[in-house]
Amino acid sequence: MRSADTASKDTRLDDGRLAIDGGTPVRTRPLPWELPGTHWIGEEERELVERVILARSPFRFYGPDLQGMVDTFENEWKTAFGHRHALGVSSGTAALSIAMSALEIGPGDEVMVPGYLWVSCVSAIVRAGAIPRLVDIDDTFCLDPEDLERKIGPHTRAVLCVHMSGAPGRIDRIARFCRDRGLALIEDCAQAAGASFNGTSVGRFGDIGIFSFQLNKNMTSGEGGMVVCQDDTLFRRIVALHDLGYPRTSAGRLDTNDPNIQLWGVGARMHELTGAMALAQLRKLPRVTSAMRSAKWRIREALEGTPGLAFRRILDPGGDTGPFLLMSLPDEALAARFVSALRAEGIAGPAGSLACLTMREWGLHWYSNIPSLVNRRSNSRDGHPWTHPANAFAKDYDYRAGVLPGCDALHANGALLTIASSLSDEDVEDISTAMRKVAAGVLS
Ligand SMILES: Cc1ncc(COP(=O)(O)O)c(C=O)c1O
Repeated sequence: MRSADTASKDTRLDDGRLAIDGGTPVRTRPLPWELPGTHWIGEEERELVERVILARSPFRFYGPDLQGMVDTFENEWKTAFGHRHALGVSSGTAALSIAMSALEIGPGDEVMVPGYLWVSCVSAIVRAGAIPRLVDIDDTFCLDPEDLERKIGPHTRAVLCVHMSGAPGRIDRIARFCRDRGLALIEDCAQAAGASFNGTSVGRFGDIGIFSFQLNKNMTSGEGGMVVCQDDTLFRRIVALHDLGYPRTSAGRLDTNDPNIQLWGVGARMHELTGAMALAQLRKLPRVTSAMRSAKWRIREALEGTPGLAFRRILDPGGDTGPFLLMSLPDEALAARFVSALRAEGIAGPAGSLACLTMREWGLHWYSNIPSLVNRRSNSRDGHPWTHPANAFAKDYDYRAGVLPGCDALHANGALLTIASSLSDEDVEDISTAMRKVAAGVLS
């Protein structure tokens, strides 16, 4: 039997007039915040964090009554995802810089990055003294292997593949290509904790994988990150680099004796309080991602076949974590109208949230929106790394809008809906109803 509420929503749909044109909105209550992990913060986080405080031992390597939160977090992570090594760090941005140094990337090297990414990806390359080379994306909104193959050159050392918006793209093909060509592969899994591709967890395809636990991510400790790898020697470098440039003894003291590991560290150790919170969140991650995945795919199925509305290609839906619904519309004007009309129907979060956006509004996720890249800015007076003689090969590289046609089209015509991890059945129904209504009014 239909509830009175459903019937009235259908009437509004039948009436057809969009809220943006003065019709009745599908809903008026804000959707929940995006920020997946935050909805699940509770007693478990409090209990583990409190343990660290009561033990007065917030430093991971030694202290009066070490609780081993970061150690436990890393161990449970390895068991959950099958990474041989895992190291908690202070952020995803730090993790990317550590990855570059661990692979000895520097002047004279070029690192391939997709044009849909996050500013940290580029900053890690530039801060290492290397050159970012832009690669287009495909219908997965991730790196396009064909454009990668076209652009590979004599200076290419590594590929930084970014699993954007909760799911990987053609990572199997990219990993095979890197192996065949002897290129290092770094997987940026910051937005895809818990994701997999055909049964293999992200972060296991490349030489190094990195994750972020910042507030917007699938699990959160406010700040935090993880570096994973399979190789023992590489991992020793990673451990030294995240700290002060040296490994530690079993007593947690710096060990300067190994001539192979005397490096320059970045001071990105994970705090025990962070470790405690991240541990509690890791234990909830499967429930968080399954809530988002289920809501997102119910919405997708309700909209399947809608003329003018295309969804991001997800090659392995079972490995998607679900925090974003990415769409593309026939043109830029329709994308803008579609999003404005959806917001008017009440498909919006509380003030300050970014629930429903055009891709134009998605800031530093697009290469051409990053002024320090477009303008080749430097942190030092000599213009490093752009002016380094070993980087002269890149003098004509262009980072302005227009150099990646696939990316530019999805940037102009794309739209995004965040999928909160706490959506009720009614929220999912409202989103589907509003999208059908707006699609009928705007796209047909
Ligand atoms: C793709 C990607 N890489 C790296 C990062 C950096 O992570 P963090 O904010 O923890 O430094 C983020 C998150 O903001 C991201 O989305």
